[in-house]
Amino acid sequence: MSVEPFGKHVTIVVFGASGDLAKKKTFPALFGLFREGELPSTIKVIGYARSELSDADFKERISANFKGVNDSNKHKVDEFLNLCSYTQGQYDSAEGFKKLNEEMEKYEKDSGVDKPERLFYLALPPSVFVTVASHIKENAYTKTGEVRLIVEKPFGNDLESSRKLQKSLAPLFTEEELYRIDHYLGKEMVKNLVFLRFSNEFLNASWNKNHIKSIQISFKEAFGTEGRGGYFDDIGIVRDVMQNHLLQVLTLLTMERPVSIDPEAIRDEKVKVLKAFGELETDDILLGQYTKSEDGTKPGYLDDDTVKGDSKCVTYAALGMQIHNERWEGVPIVMRAGKALKESKVEIRIQFKEVAKGMFNDIQRNELVMRIQPNEAVYMKINSKIPGISAVPSVTDLDLTYSSRYSKEFWIPEAYESLIRDCYLGNHANFVRDDELDLSWKLFTPLLQHIESKDGPTPEPYPYGSNGPKNLRPFLSDHGYNFYDEGTYEWPLTTPNVKGKM
Ligand code: BG6
Repeated sequence: MSVEPFGKHVTIVVFGASGDLAKKKTFPALFGLFREGELPSTIKVIGYARSELSDADFKERISANFKGVNDSNKHKVDEFLNLCSYTQGQYDSAEGFKKLNEEMEKYEKDSGVDKPERLFYLALPPSVFVTVASHIKENAYTKTGEVRLIVEKPFGNDLESSRKLQKSLAPLFTEEELYRIDHYLGKEMVKNLVFLRFSNEFLNASWNKNHIKSIQISFKEAFGTEGRGGYFDDIGIVRDVMQNHLLQVLTLLTMERPVSIDPEAIRDEKVKVLKAFGELETDDILLGQYTKSEDGTKPGYLDDDTVKGDSKCVTYAALGMQIHNERWEGVPIVMRAGKALKESKVEIRIQFKEVAKGMFNDIQRNELVMRIQPNEAVYMKINSKIPGISAVPSVTDLDLTYSSRYSKEFWIPEAYESLIRDCYLGNHANFVRDDELDLSWKLFTPLLQHIESKDGPTPEPYPYGSNGPKNLRPFLSDHGYNFYDEGTYEWPLTTPNVKGKM
């Protein structure tokens, strides 16, 4: 599929324009792209929603979260807002969509466009996805030009509902027209994975079961579900971030080398590796739910009034995973995610096998850490002689911390900025394809059914602000991850931590 970039006269319509997602992510991302000169000043942006909003209210609302504004670029805010307008309409009747179509046609006519280019962004709850998509197709579609439709998770709740959704969307929009956002694919370090893996021979050569001891993808959030417990209670951490975000990261980390940088070549490889994943074993999991913080200042999950009093909703999960192919057979993989932990951090940890014994005592494993957030970094823990008269090895690191290596002036787009830009350019590489989505649900649905069954497992309690369930450490050790004595290694290390004398 080779798709051409959109040009200068594009209409971007954001459905759900008065909602939270649009306010916090979509419009700030559109503004960010405009601010950086990545969107032309000749486009038209239309917000569409059911609420009665004046143009001024609408603009005030969407600009509340604009970022990166300073004295030298503040004129950009007004310039951008001048490109925006608001259209009020229902989601389930043709009238509003017809009005929208007229506005788009007028803009296209005034701009002398003969091949309309329209980008529709559905910042909407899934209950109205299909209704809105049908009305777009019927009343706001262009047969002479090109349409792109951005949709966002949840893409169903399990395999069955995801297939149902897909079956309803497929007759309306082709796979080429659909851009399914998983915002993790827009994160800088996630985009870097294919570069790190496939442009460095030393990583390429060691990226397999012969050299890698264990893989860990870890997602930690320092806040609980306060305020959205009612929503989260039916979702749980597995569905919220693992079936989508973390699995995307894992497929990029474990897929074979794509034949080219072409989006479909990349997505083909992701699909192939997904097919090699072993079933998720229900006895190879660790589940947790947070309780009040130890000092009593932070609420437990069940203290939220919007949550069922006896809820077994999982706010922490660690899953043992396996990939059955030539490259990964036997390598333990752990995906873990939790809310209300000690810190917020998302990272990949790869531990390499130990070197042969004999020369050195207690030599530590190499460990490659790719930190997705906060503060992107890649660092490799290596053993090196302590400088000076010592003849003892000690752990240090090869360190690529973005904030110290790259100038602050460097613009690293936010995930949504990056993805909307990709969509504008017609690049599908960082969007989820239908077969990928189907395989991800196929993998996770049996596990979710087990967890959510009537006599499903009871999650282990852990205090808000802690490291997670107590059994985490043994779980990780059982999956090939070595903890080394605390205090021997600290990142980033600027001074020797071991006395330099033998
Ligand atoms: C969302 C989840 O998809 O991802 C949230 O619904 C989670 O629960 C969020 O907090 C994490 O995204 P980020 O970009 O903040 O790591």
